[in-house]
Amino acid sequence: MGVLGDLTRTRILLLLERQELTVAELCQILQAPQSTVSRHLKALGDADWVASRAEATSRLYSLAREGIDPDARRLWQLVRTQVADVATAVQDGHRLDDVLTRRRSRSQEFFSSTAGQWDRVRAELFGQSFHWQALLGLLDTEWVVGDLGCGTGQTAEALASSAAQVIAVDDSPAMLQAARRRLRGCANVDLRRGRLEALPIDDAALDAATCVLVLHHLPEPGPALAEAARVLKPGGRLLVVDMLPHDRETYRQQMGHVWLGFPEEEMHCLLTSAGFDNVRIRALPSDADAQGPALFAAAARRRGRARSQNGKRNH
Ligand SMILES: C[S@@+](CC[C@H](N)C(=O)[O-])C[C@H]1O[C@@H](n2cnc3c(N)ncnc32)[C@H](O)[C@@H]1O
Repeated sequence: MGVLGDLTRTRILLLLERQELTVAELCQILQAPQSTVSRHLKALGDADWVASRAEATSRLYSLAREGIDPDARRLWQLVRTQVADVATAVQDGHRLDDVLTRRRSRSQEFFSSTAGQWDRVRAELFGQSFHWQALLGLLDTEWVVGDLGCGTGQTAEALASSAAQVIAVDDSPAMLQAARRRLRGCANVDLRRGRLEALPIDDAALDAATCVLVLHHLPEPGPALAEAARVLKPGGRLLVVDMLPHDRETYRQQMGHVWLGFPEEEMHCLLTSAGFDNVRIRALPSDADAQGPALFAAAARRRGRARSQNGKRNH
């Protein structure tokens, strides 16, 4: 009971119940330093909850399947039902999926050497992220795109390379000043001060809009999403990026977060109530060295029929 009475240790057991993992992988998933993870693994190993085996130069840890007495096993079943739905543990599950995806691509690299070498050579020569920049070329060059809650203008800068015009809105003079500096060279970005709940943009002025890492600051995201629907053309696209549910209470004081992430169903409901359809929500893979909670991207379409350029309705 003493050993299981610690959330980090139960998170480790939940992960090791699903998958054999190395210390480095556990560090990535738990976003904890190696010393902390090793200390907890030692405590779990001393109490026979965890087994380990050597493979090549690594040591792999798993939940001990044998040697645990039936009472202890029942105790674990009880603890795991309490812990499995805690937001931190759910976030761990997302990061475990990412670690397994990376592991699979490492083994693909090993087993199919030509394809594996190409991935390495491609990254060495050109880096990991150029194709994300290049994909912006798929935007229609006649589009007017809004960046709602633009902050210092990173998203607006990326959009400016491919859209006709970007209207970037934020309520904070300091953020807008930093955005102005960043976007000095982007003549097609129009920076406007305003609130998401009363956007300084005409009705149906935008073809698409982004709202990146903003909604968790708003006590009521519904009216802001309804405003986004108002300024989008019928058929226009909205992309919301924000956090999946987490339990980092300190973010409330440190960064003024109102929402500790959004469950998928809640985001779906907020978007459909605000006038959107075709809602698609997906968890985003997290960078190996990212320390924050896992993110999602929600894409949705402003309800109503889009009009083609000659004024006819598109079906
Ligand atoms: C965490 S920052 C994210 C900025 C940017 N989208 C990014 O991805 O880097 C959140 C931004 O939302 C802005 N913001 C928060 N509440 C707002 C509101 N009600 N109306 C307009 N902007 C708001 C803040 O000023 C801040 O710049």
